[in-house]
Amino acid sequence: MKYFVIGGAGYIGSHFVAEAIRQGHECQVYDSLELGHKSAVHPEAALLIGDIHDTDYLAKTIDSFSPDAIFHYAAYALVPESVEDPCRYYHNNVGGVISLVDAMRLVSYKNPLIFSSTCAVYGTPNSLPVSSDMTKAPESPYGHSKLFAEQVLRDAAAVDRFSVMMLRYFNACGADVSGTIGENHDPETHLIPNIIKAALNNTTVSIYGDDFDTPDGTCIRDYIHVTDLAESHILAANFLMNPRHQGLNYSINIGTGTGYSNLDVLRMVEEVLGAKIRYEIVPRRTGDATALYADSSEAEELIGFEAKHSSLRNIVETAYNWHKTLEARSAK
Ligand SMILES: NC(=O)c1ccc[n+]([C@@H]2O[C@H](COP(=O)([O-])OP(=O)(O)OC[C@H]3O[C@@H](n4cnc5c(N)ncnc54)[C@H](O)[C@@H]3O)[C@@H](O)[C@H]2O)c1
Repeated sequence: MKYFVIGGAGYIGSHFVAEAIRQGHECQVYDSLELGHKSAVHPEAALLIGDIHDTDYLAKTIDSFSPDAIFHYAAYALVPESVEDPCRYYHNNVGGVISLVDAMRLVSYKNPLIFSSTCAVYGTPNSLPVSSDMTKAPESPYGHSKLFAEQVLRDAAAVDRFSVMMLRYFNACGADVSGTIGENHDPETHLIPNIIKAALNNTTVSIYGDDFDTPDGTCIRDYIHVTDLAESHILAANFLMNPRHQGLNYSINIGTGTGYSNLDVLRMVEEVLGAKIRYEIVPRRTGDATALYADSSEAEELIGFEAKHSSLRNIVETAYNWHKTLEARSAK
């Protein structure tokens, strides 16, 4: 299959490309490189540097590549930054999707589209596990921008007759088994890379709050390995390729269904690294839910998804391998 991957130089997109190429697919990456890395793009994938807002260039590219499926990963994804500068988020995350839909319309693209959404669309859920039909109450402009983008896609798919699946990821983590790509954000706000960095640099990692209503007081999240996320996209594309799904839209959660507390994660990093890690408890961040984990049964039933790489140990081991590569690169 020919896959067109917007945002394929970023963390999750580059892992998708690596896995898709391993499975024999051809990938063309389209990325502004504002946040992504050229070095993260698999050498067998073509890289086009372009902004999603450049509708004409996007349309020409889609037309000439003629993909069997489009994967949209390109967005801004930092909750606190979205609170500080909401319009920047709406511009990129909603405006970018409108530009993509316009480009698809210009070239009459009717094949599947897979969209990276997030569990942030739910806000603080009323019950657990979180299923896709639960109330959507985002608590940040980031979460709102993804929910608006989903709505744009639903409306456009019905009229333009393409099929779309929104995959609402829980916490993406881990790294490719090759050790050559992994999470490389600046600033890094995610727990696992920050714990590993603290261990490698002999610094102290911050844990946000120990007064949540959980067994150890720290908040609980559902950690899904990026290679499992990649696989869920391939399954989603296969599902949408069924002609009976033309013009339809689907939204499902992608998680493991298991929650781990911040301290569970810290202990696992200590176990894998065989070292004690210094941490300090700092005040909770506004809007951090006590516990979030997915109802993973719907992804299993709809697209046959099963998380195979998401044991906490494998997540930490692969992330640690990647961080050693990163350290070695920066030491040169
Ligand atoms: N990381 C997570 O835990 C997580 C969880 C839920 C959802 N998501 C979603 O997954 C997607 C990918 O997240 P990520 O962590 O890989 O982010 P990332 O920042 O690592 O990657 C995003 C990529 O998109 C590119 N990009 C951004 N704006 C662009 C534009 N206007 N035109 C072209 N390229 C552009 C960036 O250069 C970057 O390469 C995002 O849509 C995010 O909202 C991520």
